[in-house]
Amino acid sequence: MKLFDVYPINDITIVKAKGSYVWDNEGQQYLDLYGGHAVISIGHTHPHYVKRITDQLNKVGFYSNSIHIPLQQELAEKLCNISGHPDYQLFLCNSGAEANENALKLASFHNGRKKIIAFTKSFHGRTSLAVAATDNKAIVAPVNETDNVVFLPYNDEAALEKYFAEHGKEVSSVIIEGIQGVGGIIEATPTFLQAISRLTKEYGAVFIADSVQCGYGRSGKFFSHDYAGVDADIYTMAKGMGNGFPIGGIIIAPHLKPKYGMLGTTFGGNHLACAAALAVLEVIEQENLIQNAAETGKYLMNELKGVKQLQKVRGKGLMIGFDLPENLKDLRKNLLFEQHVFTGEAKPNTIRLLPSLALRKKDAEQFIDSLKEEIHLMETSAKVAK
Ligand SMILES: Cc1ncc(COP(=O)(O)O)c(C=O)c1O
Repeated sequence: MKLFDVYPINDITIVKAKGSYVWDNEGQQYLDLYGGHAVISIGHTHPHYVKRITDQLNKVGFYSNSIHIPLQQELAEKLCNISGHPDYQLFLCNSGAEANENALKLASFHNGRKKIIAFTKSFHGRTSLAVAATDNKAIVAPVNETDNVVFLPYNDEAALEKYFAEHGKEVSSVIIEGIQGVGGIIEATPTFLQAISRLTKEYGAVFIADSVQCGYGRSGKFFSHDYAGVDADIYTMAKGMGNGFPIGGIIIAPHLKPKYGMLGTTFGGNHLACAAALAVLEVIEQENLIQNAAETGKYLMNELKGVKQLQKVRGKGLMIGFDLPENLKDLRKNLLFEQHVFTGEAKPNTIRLLPSLALRKKDAEQFIDSLKEEIHLMETSAKVAK
C-alpha cells in the first residue's frame, strides 16, 4: 500500500536520538535544531522521560476517562503552577489542532456567539474550525469554509479596534499565536496583545492564546504571550508538552464554566500520555530549561545577527527565524546534507530554529560554525561558477 505524503521527504532514516543529536541508519550524526518541528522540548530520549514512560507502561498504559486517573490531577497541578495559572482548569486532548478546536468551541458555548477573529499568516491546525481560522486557502476544504471567521491584519491595533467597535457584540473569540510559527516567526507586539486582552474583556469575547508552537517555555517564558503581561482566557498547547508523545491540552480561566459533556475525548489524558507530560515538566523544572531557552536563545540570536548575509534575525528564546537572500536559498538543504544539521523552514525564504530547550551553548556554537562554513562554501563556489 502506498503512503500518503505528509511532507516532502528528506532521504534520511533516523534510527537513534539523544539530547540535541540524531543518527541515521548509516551512522551519520546530525545536530537537531528543528526538534521534529518544535516537538522535542527536553531533548531526545531523556533518561528520566524514558524511565517514567517505561515504568508507567509496565503498570497501566491506558484506561478511559470513565475512572479516576490521579496522574491527570498531578499534571494539572504541575502545569498550572509552572505556567503561573494555578486557578485555571485543564482539559487534555491529543494534538494542537484538537486543542484549538476545543478552545474555539468552548468560547462559543460560553458566550453563545459565532464570530472568531483570527489574523493574517496564522496557523491553527487542520481540523474544521482550526483550519477555518488558518490563513492558508490551500488547506481549507470547501466544507471547512465559514463566514464565522474573519481575518484581520496581525499587529494592526486600529483594525482590531474598528472591528470591535462595529461588531464587538458578535465576537465569540480572538485566537492568536504569540509568535507566529508557520507564518515565519513573527512576534505579536505587546501592545497588540494588550489590546486583544482589553477588547475581549470589554465585549465579553474570549481571548485564546495559541501556544501550540510558541508555548511551553520555547520563548524563554512559559507562554510567549507572557512577554506582554496579559492573561488569556484559554491557552492551547501541544508540541513540546509530551516531547514527542502525542498529547495536547487547553487551560481554561476560572470565569469560564465548561459543563460536563461540552468537551470529551477517548484518548486524551490517558495514563501513558500523562506520564510523558509529567516527565517533561519535571525535567523542565529540574534542569531550568526555560531559563536555558532564554539564555541559549539570546546567545544564538546575537551570533546570528553578526552573520551579515542573514536578513531580519528575529524571535524569542529558542524560537528563531531569519530570511535568506536569493543566492543562499539552498542553505537549509545544504545545512542538512553537507553540514548534517536539521533546521526548519517557512515559505518563501525563512529558516526556523526550533531546537530542544536543553540545547547547550556548545551545540549552538557548533551550529554557528557550520552555518558560517556553509555560507562561505556556497558563496565561494558561486564565485567559481561565474
Ligand atoms: C501555532 C500552531 N497551532 C496549531 C498547530 C497544529 O498542531 P497539530 O499539528 O498538533 O494539530 C500547529 C502545528 O504546527 C501550530 O504551529
